[in-house]
Amino acid sequence: MTLNEYSKNLNSHPRFGLGCWPLSGKGWKGATSESAIDLIIRAIELGVVFFDTAPVYGFGLSEKLLGEALSGIPSSILDGITVATKCGLKIDNGRVTHDLSYDFILRDCEESLKRLKRDTIELYQLHWPDPQTPLDESFKALNRLLDDGSIKKIGVCNFDIPLMKKALELGPVCSCQNLYNYLQQKSAELIEFCYDNNIDFIAYSPLAQGLLTPSVTAEYRFAKNDIRRLNPLFDINGSTGIKADHKESINFTSCLKKKSRLGNDTVQEALIFVTNNRKISRILVGTSRVKHLEQILNYGFI
Ligand SMILES: NC(=O)c1ccc[n+]([C@@H]2O[C@H](COP(=O)([O-])OP(=O)(O)OC[C@H]3O[C@@H](n4cnc5c(N)ncnc54)[C@H](OP(=O)(O)O)[C@@H]3O)[C@@H](O)[C@H]2O)c1
Repeated sequence: MTLNEYSKNLNSHPRFGLGCWPLSGKGWKGATSESAIDLIIRAIELGVVFFDTAPVYGFGLSEKLLGEALSGIPSSILDGITVATKCGLKIDNGRVTHDLSYDFILRDCEESLKRLKRDTIELYQLHWPDPQTPLDESFKALNRLLDDGSIKKIGVCNFDIPLMKKALELGPVCSCQNLYNYLQQKSAELIEFCYDNNIDFIAYSPLAQGLLTPSVTAEYRFAKNDIRRLNPLFDINGSTGIKADHKESINFTSCLKKKSRLGNDTVQEALIFVTNNRKISRILVGTSRVKHLEQILNYGFI
C-alpha cells in the first residue's frame, strides 16, 4: 500500500469530488499549475476518491496533470478512485465548439485515455448537449466505448429533464452533472427527477466559481483570459465582456447582497446549502490550492 499506509486514520469524503478545472492554472485568476500534482496527491491522502476533469479544461492540461499525479499512486489505492472526464467540446485554434458526433467522441476518448495515462475511464460524460447531432448518434459511440471497456459508466452534463428522458432510452446513464449553488438553483426539479430515477445528481460550481468565497468583492477585476468572463453571475455592468448571447442576465450586485446573507464563512455556508440537499449524490468543488482543499475537508460535512 503506502502513500503513508494510505493515510492512517483516513476519513473518506464520499460526496466530495475535486473539480480539476482551476488546477490547470489556465483561465483562473491566481491558479498555478506547479502545485497541481501536489494538490491531487494531497487530496488522495485526505480521502478524496472522485476527480472530475475534461479535455477542454486548460486545453488538455487538467487531464494531463491528473494523469501524471495518478501514475505515481500505488494501484491498490487507485482501485478505489474514480476519474470522471467528458467529451464533446472541440478545440479548434483556441475556439471551443460543440461536437457530439460518433467519430469525434471516439477520438476524444482516445486522447483523454492517453492524457490520463489510463486503460479505462470510470465515468465518461457528455459535456454539453450538441444541437447539431442527434442524441442517438452520440449514444452509439458511448455504448461502443462501454462495450470495448474504454469507459465504465456513462454520464451526461447540462441536460434538462426532456433530454434526460431521451438519453435514458438510449443507454445506461448513471449520472447527470449540472450547475447548482446558493445563487443558481435552476436544477432543483432536475435533482428530484434524477433521485426518482436512480441517477446520481452531481452538482458543479457550488461556490459559484468563486463568487461565494471571500476572494470576490465588488472591486473584483478579471484577467483578460479569465473563464469567468463567460459567467453571467460576474457581469458587472457589462465589464466582464458578457454579451447578449447569454440568455440569463444576473445582477452582480444583488448576488453580492445575497452572498452577504450567508454569514461570515461564506464558503462553509455555501457548501452547507448544497450538501443539505440529500438528493444530491456528489458535490464538485474546484480549487488550485491545498490550503483551500484542507479548509473544506476540515469542515467534515461533505
Ligand atoms: N459539466 C460542466 O459543464 C461543468 C461546468 C463547470 C464546472 N464543472 C466542474 O465542477 C468543478 C467545480 O466547479 P468550478 O470549479 O466551476 O467552481 P467552484 O467550485 O464553485 O469554485 C471554484 C473557485 O472557488 C475557489 N475556492 C475553492 N475553495 C475555496 C476556499 N476554501 N476559499 C476560497 N476560495 C475557494 C477557487 O479558487 P482557488 O483555486 O484559489 O482555490 C476557484 O476560484 C469544476 O472544477 C469542474 O470539474 C463542470
